[in-house]
Amino acid sequence: MSETIQRKVALVTGAGSGIGRACARRLLANGFTVVLAGRRAAPLEALVQEAHERSEEALAVPCDVTDAAAVDALFDTIRTRYGRLDLLFNNAGRNAPAVDIDELSVDDWRAVVDTNLSGVFLCTRAAFGLMKQQTPRGGRIVNNGSISAHAPRPFSIAYTATKHAITGLTKSVSLDGRRYDIACGQIDIGNAATEMAERMARGVPQANGEIAAEPLMDVEVVADSLLHMAQLPLSANVQFMTVMATKMPFVGRG
Ligand SMILES: NC(=O)c1ccc[n+]([C@@H]2O[C@H](COP(=O)([O-])OP(=O)(O)OC[C@H]3O[C@@H](n4cnc5c(N)ncnc54)[C@H](OP(=O)(O)O)[C@@H]3O)[C@@H](O)[C@H]2O)c1
Repeated sequence: MSETIQRKVALVTGAGSGIGRACARRLLANGFTVVLAGRRAAPLEALVQEAHERSEEALAVPCDVTDAAAVDALFDTIRTRYGRLDLLFNNAGRNAPAVDIDELSVDDWRAVVDTNLSGVFLCTRAAFGLMKQQTPRGGRIVNNGSISAHAPRPFSIAYTATKHAITGLTKSVSLDGRRYDIACGQIDIGNAATEMAERMARGVPQANGEIAAEPLMDVEVVADSLLHMAQLPLSANVQFMTVMATKMPFVGRG
C-alpha cells in the first residue's frame, strides 16, 4: 500500500547547515522526499548519505539562489525527477558586516539583497509555476523571515530591509496563490543556535550601545514549527509564526 502513496516532495534552500539542515532532517524523518540546495556540495552530499542510510529519499542539487539560470536548472531537475513540488522552504540567507550605514559597501548591500530577497523571489517564481500546473494542483511555500522582519538590530540595514521585504513577498504570494491552491506562510525566528547566531551567545550590540550576550534556543524547535506548517492540509495556513528564544530582547523593547 505504501508504494502507491506518493511521498510529498520538498525543496529546502540553505539545507547544508543550521536551520535548513535541521528542517531537512525533520522533513526526511517524516516521510518527505527532500531536495537539498545550497552553494557548497559537500554538506548537501553528507546529508544525502545520512538520509540514504536511513532509507530516506534525498537529492543534493548545488545551487546559488542568486543565479536565475541555476534556479531554473534546479527546478528542471525537480520536474524531471519527481514531477512535482509540495513544499518550498525558502531558507537560504546571509548577513553583512555590522557597520554604520555609510560604511556598508554597495557590494555587501547587493549580496544581501540578491540572496535574502531576489533569491527567494527566484525560487518562489519557479515553485509557483510548477505548483499551479501540477496534478494534484497546489503546494506550500514557507519563507524564513526573522525577528528582523519586525525590528532591526543595530548596524543591520541590509539584513533588516530584506527581511521586512520578505513579509511583503509572503503576503503577495499568499494572496496570488489562492487561485491555485498555493499556500504561503512565514516563520520569523529569533536566536536559534546555529553558526549564524553563535555571536549572539558571545555578545552583540544592543540598542543602548551595550554589548550583551543573548539567550539562544535549540534549532530543533524551528524544525518542530516548520514541520507543523508543512503538514497542514492546503486548506489551512500558518500565515506568520514567530518562534524565538523566550528571554531574548524583543518584546518589552529590550
Ligand atoms: N539562526 C537564527 O537565529 C536566525 C534567526 C532569524 C532568521 N534566520 C534565518 O534563517 C536562515 C538560515 O540561517 P542559519 O541560522 O541556519 O544560518 P547558516 O547556517 O549560515 O545557513 C545559511 C544557509 O544558506 C546557504 N546560502 C547562503 N547563501 C546562499 C546562496 N546564495 N545560495 C544558496 N544557498 C545559500 C548557506 O549554504 P552555502 O554557504 O553552502 O550556500 C547556508 O547553508 C537565514 O535566512 C537566516 O536569515 C536565522
